[in-house]
Amino acid sequence: MQKVLVTRRLFPEVIARLAGNFEVDYHDDDQALTPSELAVRLSDKAGMMLVLTDRLDASVLAAAPALKVAANVAVGYNNIDLAACSAAGVMATNTPGVLNETTADMVWTLMMASARRVVAADKWTRTGGWQSWKFLDPWLGQDVHGATLGIVGMGRIGQAVARRAQGFDMRVIYHNRTPQTETGGATWVEKNTLLAESDFIVLMVPYSTATHHLIGAAELALMKPTAHLVNVARGGVVDDAALIEALKARRIGGAGLDVFEGEPALNPGFFELDNVTLTPHIGSSSRATRMAMATCAADNLIAALTGHTPPNLLNPDAVRQ
Ligand code: GLV
Repeated sequence: MQKVLVTRRLFPEVIARLAGNFEVDYHDDDQALTPSELAVRLSDKAGMMLVLTDRLDASVLAAAPALKVAANVAVGYNNIDLAACSAAGVMATNTPGVLNETTADMVWTLMMASARRVVAADKWTRTGGWQSWKFLDPWLGQDVHGATLGIVGMGRIGQAVARRAQGFDMRVIYHNRTPQTETGGATWVEKNTLLAESDFIVLMVPYSTATHHLIGAAELALMKPTAHLVNVARGGVVDDAALIEALKARRIGGAGLDVFEGEPALNPGFFELDNVTLTPHIGSSSRATRMAMATCAADNLIAALTGHTPPNLLNPDAVRQ
């Protein structure tokens, strides 16, 4: 029987399904394996299911001579060195499609929470701040309806975000590296135009060297002083230190962040701010969607190890030497 590694605690139903096909080495834990633990556990494995905090690079692959497939339980795959996988003949897969709507819901959650200062208001309410009802500050927020929404990265999730904006009568503009024509009522604009004109800026780009610090001090300086930034894409797309400075100086209205540089070790500067809403990388985390993602990854793994092309193969050039 072929052996597979599952690197993180997942749904028991998915593990049971894998166990019907393979000998499963299950790391039934929420703590990540270290790179050296990963290398040891992979030494005799034909397949693995990994999560976005597991780094799969040439050094780990060198310790996995029998590995044929690495099924990421995520749509983003910046944790996987695709070229190294291809060179080692390891098929890499991801889970596109199944999490678009849930992640778009999370974008909306952070956008609304940031606009109306929901988390700060909750804290104030539960810690006895509410001694008198206030007509004015500190709870004067920003309207979402009728505002301009700027989406950086109009992929599947960006489009799901844009669809929701129709119900809020928003003007939607977007920026992709390759200019496109109108997409479902959203208009392509230059990045700087988007930064200057948007009331809400949503980042939906994958992380790569090309998108590293896509939003830094210069970009933040172009934003309206009332605008909110939402990042549910990947840490590193935003320069966190620059964002903290902008929030501290109230140069922008606020931010809603689900992803961070170096997560889960956040820049402590965030914790002192009341104009930022922080969540622990839970964009796709509804029960149904996490199940769909795990099932999708298992489908990819099983296909690859039973002689089929996995449905979500990222590197068709992967051929074992
Ligand atoms: C989550 O961040 C994912 O990429 O699926």
